[in-house]
Amino acid sequence: MTVNLPPLAPLADKSSVFSDLNPLPRLLMGPGPINADPRVLRAMSSQLLGQFDPQFRLMMKETMALYRRVFETRNAWTFIVDGTARSGIETVMASVIEPGDRVLVCSFGRFGQLKTEIATRAGADLKVINAPWGTVFAPEQIEVAVKAFSPKLVAVCQGDTSTTMLQPLAEIGKICHRHGALLQVDATASIAGAPLKVDDWEIDCVTAGLQKCLAGPSGAAPVTLSDAMARMIYRRRHIEEGVRPTDYVPGKGRMISSNYFDLAMLMDYWSDLALNHHTEATTMLYGARECARIFVQEGHAAAFKRHADGSRAIVAGLLGMGLKVFGDVANKMPNVTGVYVPDGINGDRVRNALLSDFNIEIGTSFGQLHGKIWRIGAMGYNARQDCVLTTLAALETVLAAEGYRFTRGAGVDAAYQCYKESAG
Ligand SMILES: Cc1ncc(COP(=O)(O)O)c(C=O)c1O
Repeated sequence: MTVNLPPLAPLADKSSVFSDLNPLPRLLMGPGPINADPRVLRAMSSQLLGQFDPQFRLMMKETMALYRRVFETRNAWTFIVDGTARSGIETVMASVIEPGDRVLVCSFGRFGQLKTEIATRAGADLKVINAPWGTVFAPEQIEVAVKAFSPKLVAVCQGDTSTTMLQPLAEIGKICHRHGALLQVDATASIAGAPLKVDDWEIDCVTAGLQKCLAGPSGAAPVTLSDAMARMIYRRRHIEEGVRPTDYVPGKGRMISSNYFDLAMLMDYWSDLALNHHTEATTMLYGARECARIFVQEGHAAAFKRHADGSRAIVAGLLGMGLKVFGDVANKMPNVTGVYVPDGINGDRVRNALLSDFNIEIGTSFGQLHGKIWRIGAMGYNARQDCVLTTLAALETVLAAEGYRFTRGAGVDAAYQCYKESAG
């Protein structure tokens, strides 16, 4: 059988490989990534250390302590997985799910689909419930499914960036525990932008990324595990031959099928045993530590208000331009807003003009929403009045140039007014 490989054009100008990196500065106002806080970039330019250097081990402990505060948890097992946010999701699923285990995914967008696919690869006996894109689940809907299916694990997004919806979670952990299931939450897109009370809400595991409201680059996945989940995983501890201590006794549970995503080995590495596993991405840990420090120093309430203010201003601005906001606004994520591309306007041309003429990036969406909505984010370092107003002003100019009819200035004025009211 012929396998057609994907297209791969050669580099047009070979001399450019010797040019210094000097990208045009863009204002990233899409669904993430966003511009990193300069403090994070500075931390990441620190010199490398060996991962067993006492200085570095101390930084690991500090990072664990900081992320306990970010997640509002006392979970001892709160640490960083090296990799983008999906590496956190996959690490948990590979380490918890054994082939044939029942897993319920509550999906309300593309990132529910991602968890479905990762659980499938882990060999789960899977059930998926779907909420129409642009809506979230009522707790009762989840309870009915958990009761009927009796899963070992329930997986759900807090914020699904593809639809901009934020799933209320306060009751879901309790529902899962009432029926003997553990709850895994993907908070990649919402962490540090909206409240997430891991202990109070009885969430067994949360995974995240840095590239949205935490104001960092992607490449590190903060993870927190309840004791119950940590013990379930550690039963499956099988240490790689080359690093086994002399007193090693393999765990009773089935060996985790991935080496890189073996949370039991990662726990050994982060523990005081300090067992070797991967070569640490030390630069990413510097970044993750700084992201948490920035958020904790600002304070949860202040950071959430900053994101909520941005959301209100963007919604007011878009409505002021006569545009229609996508989805159930009452359950919208505070850090990203979906808006319908108006009839007769080419969404990609608008995005391209914003990028080429204003250096501003906004997003489209995926699947059934591709080309139908734009997604405008104001998160992390960019959840600021100046970024929001600049983006709305540029959008007004481009929309007018594309022939969209509306009252010029009405969007920016409405957003400006919103910010004034929030400050007052
Ligand atoms: C909710 C959610 N989950 C998971 C991911 C995947 O993250 P990554 O691309 O960092 O692997 C994203 C990325 O945008 C996301 O928004």
